Amino acid sequence: MKVPGIIGGTGIEELAGLSIVAAHRPETPFGEPSRAVQEGLLDGCRVFFLQRHGSPALIPPHLVNYRANLWALHSLGVNEVIAINAVGGISPQMQPGALVVPDQLIDYTWGRAHTYDDGSGGKLQHIDFTEPYDRELRMQVVAAAELAGVSCTSAGVHGITQGPRLETAAEVRRMAADGCDLVGMTGMPEAALARELGIAYASVCMVVNPAAGLSEQPISLAMMHDILHQEAGVVGALLRSLLALRYGS
Ligand code: HPA
Repeated sequence: MKVPGIIGGTGIEELAGLSIVAAHRPETPFGEPSRAVQEGLLDGCRVFFLQRHGSPALIPPHLVNYRANLWALHSLGVNEVIAINAVGGISPQMQPGALVVPDQLIDYTWGRAHTYDDGSGGKLQHIDFTEPYDRELRMQVVAAAELAGVSCTSAGVHGITQGPRLETAAEVRRMAADGCDLVGMTGMPEAALARELGIAYASVCMVVNPAAGLSEQPISLAMMHDILHQEAGVVGALLRSLLALRYGS
């Protein structure tokens, strides 16, 4: 049985319309998840929701306990995750307001606890990460967007930087040369940890600003939040459509 989990990013503090039936704080060998995992019904569909940055505390991207978050969801039976990420746009079509379901990523993060493999298992774990996002789940997210009348780009390369500072203009130029379409700070190690646990994982990226050096204006949190506010409703519609399409009875 497919059990969906949603990881909310910046701007998605709660899952709109979720009727909560339980809040779980499972113990994990890696400490506590960012916040209690809410279990609830959305349009009659059972779903688990976790806010990546916690609340009211705001855990910065490099300090999120990704291992505890994924472990907690897995221990509750979640086997498919849709992650929401706020990102900057690099390629010209990735303008603020765009929604993108990336098909590839490049990991520029460092020093994060990025694997469950501590070497004690007696065998090396080299997960296949050729396609970091689950193809089938990704395609269904795109189909759900179409059904809901939500415009969304069905592919893109998500570059993940360490943060919490934003990038320099030269870093963004290098990322563009590397093939990145988007830049965010929370996509890794989340996607790889999900793969290690056998969880199908797809991401919906909300473009909230042009990446550093690509616009005349400085990047401001106020600008990001305005766009996030507008996009959160659209993402909500997409998620509801996905739940009905993929998990509805
Ligand atoms: N860079 C990195 N992460 C981000 C950005 C950005 O420009 N916008 C939102 N998250």
